[in-house]
Amino acid sequence: AWRMPVFLPVFALFVPLIWLVRRFVSGRLQSYNENLRREIEGMNSQLGGMINMIPITRAHAVEDEEVARLENRFSNVRSAARSFDFFAGTFGATMWVALMLFNLGGFAAAAFLSYRGLVALTPGDIVLLAGYFNTIMAAVLQLNAMLPIVTRGFDGLRSIGEVLESPDIEDNRGKKSVEQVRGEFTFENVSFSYEKTDGVTPALRGLNFQVTAGETIGIVGPSGSGKSTLISLITGFHRPTSGRILLDGVDMNAIDLRTFRHRLAVVSQQTILFNGTLRENIVYGTRDVTEAELQAAINDANAMEFIRELPRGLDTELGAAGVQLSGGQRQRIAIARALLRDPRVLILDEATSALDTGSEAVVQQALERLMSGRTTFIIAHRHAVLRRANRILTLDKGALVEQASNELIAAAN
Ligand SMILES: Nc1ncnc2c1ncn2[C@@H]1O[C@H](COP(=O)(O)OP(=O)(O)OP(=O)(O)O)[C@@H](O)[C@H]1O
Ligand SMILES: [Mg+2]
Repeated sequence: AWRMPVFLPVFALFVPLIWLVRRFVSGRLQSYNENLRREIEGMNSQLGGMINMIPITRAHAVEDEEVARLENRFSNVRSAARSFDFFAGTFGATMWVALMLFNLGGFAAAAFLSYRGLVALTPGDIVLLAGYFNTIMAAVLQLNAMLPIVTRGFDGLRSIGEVLESPDIEDNRGKKSVEQVRGEFTFENVSFSYEKTDGVTPALRGLNFQVTAGETIGIVGPSGSGKSTLISLITGFHRPTSGRILLDGVDMNAIDLRTFRHRLAVVSQQTILFNGTLRENIVYGTRDVTEAELQAAINDANAMEFIRELPRGLDTELGAAGVQLSGGQRQRIAIARALLRDPRVLILDEATSALDTGSEAVVQQALERLMSGRTTFIIAHRHAVLRRANRILTLDKGALVEQASNELIAAAN
């Protein structure tokens, strides 16, 4: 065995060689893989958007364009995947061939040296050498086969890291939770811009007003005047750019908004129902609801009658595979949902538009039950909806404009 050190430099050559190859390869593998991952993420988000757009796409008869756009996307993913696999495959094959040539060269050198009598080699030595080569080759090839897998794994980890490291936009951590909500709001010089850059006209400017608990506030104004923006400040989806909003005398920046939202309900034009039974849809977001409470909420929402006529009552499946509800029926489901939550603060977004007069009256009656005793904000374009308001805030280009509420309310009546 003492003769073998002659071949040690030959084996030692492997180390820098493999290190070099790995350095060259792993960077490129990584960039191919990152490319592939981005393509796949893009494809997923395009697919999601496309599925939501299906009704509009069909209504405009542009299915072919959508399919073409998607095919484009698929072919990008396919070519990114092919580049990655082609590179990984070429690398694996090249390594294999290189190692085999190295092996061959080693044997040729050994044969030559032995033939010339420069180094005394016995057949046993040759077998031993072959054994060494095979062991090293198997190890190196296995490591190489791992390289694409390891690259994908690390890239996946990076992708997870990007999500985990993105800051919590709401920043609720460690903030005070609110046990009781009375529903008083104070706006102190509140302004809000969607863009953080200067010079852009803010969506809301210098709002000052107070709302006492249990009041009903109508919000009116032309399209784009900031009504929806004002609502998103009240729900805490956006925070004021300057000024502050107090909830029951406490700055909303200082409270855990999730605990406030337990006492908040939103009834909007587009009631979102998910695939599941009607019962699941109504109790969504509430805990420990008794059957009696559920029945009472359905009754107060004027929904009992139409639910009884459904094939399986409360256990009727909704959604793609089930029953479709009308606009007025959906709204009453939303009202029942809101009643069950027993909120202190209620937000109604143009809640009775797009209904015929018959069902509007039923919905209106249910809404009035829901509003009583709760701080309510109503966005409405039509005066009839504002009849119940104690006060009306009129927005124009993001600012409150002075307008006698009484007059507006009188006009509504
Ligand atoms: N996500 C957003 N990003 C940037 N600007 C926005 C965004 N949402 C609204 N805006 C802008 O803020 C202003 C107020 O919009 P907002 O949606 O609050 O109006 P609105 O009173 O609810 O209108 P509408 O009656 O049409 O619903 C508009 O100028 C609008 O272009
Ligand atoms: Mg709006």
